Amino acid sequence: MRTEAVTSSRLTDLEHKRSSVSAPAAWDYAPAPESREVVTLRERYGHFIGGEWVEPRDSYTTISPSSEEELAEVGQATPEEVDAAVGAARAAFANGWSALPGAERAKYLFRIARILQERSREFAVLESLNGGKPIKESRDVDLPLAAAHFFYYAGWADKLEYAFPNRRPQPVGVAGQIIPWNFPLLMLAWKIAPALACGNTVVLKPAETTPLSALLFCDVLRQAELPPGVVNIVTGDGRTGAAIVDHDGVDKVAFTGSTEVGKAIQRAVAGTGKKLTLELGGKAANVIFDDAALDQAVEGIVNGIYFNQGHVCCAGSRLLVQESIYEQTIAKLKKRLATLRVGDPLDKNTDVGAINSKMQLDKITELVDAGKEEGAEIYQPACRLPEKGYWFAPTVFTNVAQSYRIAQEEIFGPVLSVLTFRTPDEAVEKANNTMFGLSAGVWTEKGSRILWMAQQLRAGVVWANTYNRFDPTSPFGGYRESGFGREGGRHGLEPYLRFE
Ligand code: NAI
Ligand code: MG
Repeated sequence: MRTEAVTSSRLTDLEHKRSSVSAPAAWDYAPAPESREVVTLRERYGHFIGGEWVEPRDSYTTISPSSEEELAEVGQATPEEVDAAVGAARAAFANGWSALPGAERAKYLFRIARILQERSREFAVLESLNGGKPIKESRDVDLPLAAAHFFYYAGWADKLEYAFPNRRPQPVGVAGQIIPWNFPLLMLAWKIAPALACGNTVVLKPAETTPLSALLFCDVLRQAELPPGVVNIVTGDGRTGAAIVDHDGVDKVAFTGSTEVGKAIQRAVAGTGKKLTLELGGKAANVIFDDAALDQAVEGIVNGIYFNQGHVCCAGSRLLVQESIYEQTIAKLKKRLATLRVGDPLDKNTDVGAINSKMQLDKITELVDAGKEEGAEIYQPACRLPEKGYWFAPTVFTNVAQSYRIAQEEIFGPVLSVLTFRTPDEAVEKANNTMFGLSAGVWTEKGSRILWMAQQLRAGVVWANTYNRFDPTSPFGGYRESGFGREGGRHGLEPYLRFE
């Protein structure tokens, strides 16, 4: 009896509480901000030359693209400062690094990989702060992959003779490496890990809008006790990049960025004997056949173009849908877009962060305006964009003709152009109707069709029933206007070696 009485009174309490709390009007996500406290920024950064911080002659301010907040002063390296960095790299190459046994070089690379893992939260926050990408992505993609690249190439350092039997692989010398702003730390890892594994030394320049993770990486190099001068980092814009490319003491140039600058670099190194790899733009087709698992394919479409705000060279920016499932696919895609959360990069719920720079926002806006003018139909889900900072809503264009600029040019933003096809042959023809050749996606249940498509598509990487999947063991790179040379895998060693 007593127990019953107590229970019933508790139930009444509960009932009471329930009626006093109003049901939520909408199931919004509460903010879940990652703490900025884990990152300590200096007011001013110099260049990292010969293991020391060198006070820069000129400098500029780097900002957070999501708030336009000023973060730090960084150097704009002059040709003289680049010369000092190349000199330090040359000395380190000659004074022992190139002659170290591979197993010794591997130790440093393993150390760097482990320190990156240990400090991954700090790096992830900094990457999102300086670049605008969602913390979810920098934490779960950029950082684990960057560490994985160092682990992977550490494993090759003492096995180069097995990788290239009977060919006597030798390091090339000083590598000049210029990287973009879409995956700042990951691109650094793609460049530095194979270069060091092969016994080269490095002068690297991060992109002007995202220098901070590369500068924090200098701390990691010191922690790993990498000999001074093996890796030198100078910051600055394209002028600094050009000074690296033009320097006589550089033996190999590795570039990731725009096709336009890639072409200029190729002209600059022509006839100099410098080795060159170029990883440039793309306009990838993501091809959905009528037998594809459609809900999975829709996830693949979203991941293909809205991941990292579409600032991805291999982004699936041209969707090719088989005509018979067109209506259904677009309806599902629009429904899915309505659930994307656009906003603060440091919020753990954010799916789409800030556009990296004002310049990039202007480029996206210009191409989207061109799409509207040329006659495509635009769709954007309702979303409230923050007032400060650089933002662009996830966008889908339907009614797109192959000749439109939005079907031809790399937008490098969260903008998808949808085209249709009837037969596999037509899909191949349309997919290959581009100056680029970096990546493609195929969605179908038929294994035979996947293999056939992979052979027909003129792209360096073809993903089947997945998209934007990366692994350090897998070579990545393009042809035609997407560049040449491969990064990742055993192939990624070759640009950093010469053979006797
Ligand atoms: P960009 O090609 O100008 O910049 C990439 C890197 O090259 C940066 O570090 C930059 O400082 C450096 N650079 C610029 N001019 C140089 C020169 N003359 N010599 C040597 N280095 C130089 O790319 P930007 O202007 O930031 O973006 C423009 C477009 O390029 C984007 O809208 C996008 O379409 C494409 N892009 C493609 C990337 C990719 O991953 N394939 C990455 C970044 C941009
Ligand atoms: Mg540029």
